[in-house]
Amino acid sequence: MKLNIITIDGPSASGKGSLSRNLAKYLDFNILDSGLLYRIYAYLFSISGNHDEVKEMINEQISFSSDDDGIKVLKDTNDITLELRTETTAKTASQISALEITRNNLLDIQRDFYSDRGLVADGRDMGTVVFPEARLKIFLEASAEVRAKRRYLELQNRGQEVNMPDLIADIESRDLKDRTRTISPLIPAEDSIVIDSSNMSLDEVLSFTKKLTKKEFNK
Ligand code: DC
Repeated sequence: MKLNIITIDGPSASGKGSLSRNLAKYLDFNILDSGLLYRIYAYLFSISGNHDEVKEMINEQISFSSDDDGIKVLKDTNDITLELRTETTAKTASQISALEITRNNLLDIQRDFYSDRGLVADGRDMGTVVFPEARLKIFLEASAEVRAKRRYLELQNRGQEVNMPDLIADIESRDLKDRTRTISPLIPAEDSIVIDSSNMSLDEVLSFTKKLTKKEFNK
């Protein structure tokens, strides 16, 4: 049975986040930023060093709130959003996400984001592993250069110092790891629609995707 879920998978900085937020708002669906969960996991693992404890900490200490700037993550009452968005956390998340125990520990937590309201799920293996029964699956691609440029602007806007050649190298090596790992590699689901956004604006990707949601969800 198909579920009211749109999965949006693809490499980092391909525009999945913006597309997901816009679609969730437009359709009034819940949203799952699974990359953020992997970042939370990596951050907590660097504190605890124990996988079972990290799973418990996510369930008991982590909460989300959202405002105009996007999703905020609280560990108890501390806002840890900025720490989660650094390239250091991204690197740890990439390493720790290759472990089966990490992926298993996050499976139910991710699936719990689904409710009758519908869900936009953003990640790497949303269409292949976490929500294979999703009604609409999108795989968003963009060249490494285009993605590095987007990430550069994003980090600069947050006041973080970045160097473009380092950023391209980081993105390429992280992609290679994500695409070639044995467990849940970054690959399009067989029934996904692949969009290359290298030469498309967010608005163009959004209006193309809205045509697909119209067909699948009549919305
Ligand atoms: O999308 P992001 O950059 O916030 O993701 C951080 C890391 O988490 C990324 O290197 C790959 C990993 N990840 C994953 O393995 N599976 C997902 N569904 C989402 C992210």
